[in-house]
Amino acid sequence: MADEPLISVANLSKTYDDGFEALKNINLGVRNGEILALLGPNGAGKTTLISIICGLVNPTEGSVTVGGYDIIADYRQTRSMIGLVPQELATDAFESVWATVSFSRGLFGKGPKPTLIESLLKDLSLWDKKDNQIMALSGGMKRRVMIAKALSHEPTILFLDEPTAGVDVELRKDMWALIRRLRDTGVTVILTTHYIQEAEEMADRVGVINNGELILVEDKTELMRKMGSKRLTLDLQQPLQEVPPALASYDLELANGGSQIVYTYDTRGERTGITGLLAALNDADIRFRDLSTTQSSLEEIFVNLVRGAS
Ligand SMILES: Nc1ncnc2c1ncn2[C@@H]1O[C@H](COP(=O)(O)OP(=O)(O)OP(=O)(O)O)[C@@H](O)[C@H]1O
Ligand SMILES: [Mg+2]
Repeated sequence: MADEPLISVANLSKTYDDGFEALKNINLGVRNGEILALLGPNGAGKTTLISIICGLVNPTEGSVTVGGYDIIADYRQTRSMIGLVPQELATDAFESVWATVSFSRGLFGKGPKPTLIESLLKDLSLWDKKDNQIMALSGGMKRRVMIAKALSHEPTILFLDEPTAGVDVELRKDMWALIRRLRDTGVTVILTTHYIQEAEEMADRVGVINNGELILVEDKTELMRKMGSKRLTLDLQQPLQEVPPALASYDLELANGGSQIVYTYDTRGERTGITGLLAALNDADIRFRDLSTTQSSLEEIFVNLVRGAS
């Protein structure tokens, strides 16, 4: 079926041996070909969720299927579809970049394919380091080696747990471009990130995890439309000392020493109130030179969600 989820997580819970409840009844469907970003504060349960889907951690309750296969009963099938870039870097320090990435492919029972390894290393700006030992690389380079390793067996699903932590802005942009290219070739991508801008740039859908609960999964644009407020800023011809009483019914603030009026409105509302506000300004003889609107960022939405939930 076309809209059957590629990954299906049902009633999944995880209690660690020490009794800590890291995941509470998670239900989630990951769609074929999407980029899903998982957001959540430290300790929310993101890595636990990914580790269960990848078969590294046992669930306490519930089930997960990948491409219709059960992650426990059909572990080999599900694992071979998945590439994982773990949060913690772990590689053989003495191996060369080339050997590490090639060897990874072998672990999945796939024959050598030097052209693929070459193009991965080139895409990840690691080609000139291919003969270096891993221990002679910088942290950001090591992370890119992990990505090359995860892609070496040509998985159709890629998990990236904090892929750009410690990667500089320039390279982060290159990595975003690479992830988009992968998505365009049909790879499904699930990533966790603390850089909300990353989710804003990349994700088709956003899931928010807090205290082991998946508190929301939503189409990114829809989320920003529904949850976001917008701000209208008017640059005034004459600065104001205070908001005139005639405009008290609007949610207005003065900014920039009184030279700007900022109007915050809810994008969910039927009416924005802008027409009324402009008429009221006109009646109060307040003239403006320019106006602009801005949408609240995913960051503000996220902070509000997590604060509201805990
Ligand atoms: N092996 C373990 N034994 C006991 N508790 C664990 C274990 N692994 C993780 N936890 C706990 O489970 C919770 C979730 O951890 P997890 O690593 O999934 O969070 P996270 O969302 O990935 O956080 P971060 O953003 O810091 O990576 C944390 O409170 C953590 O201490
Ligand atoms: Mg984590």
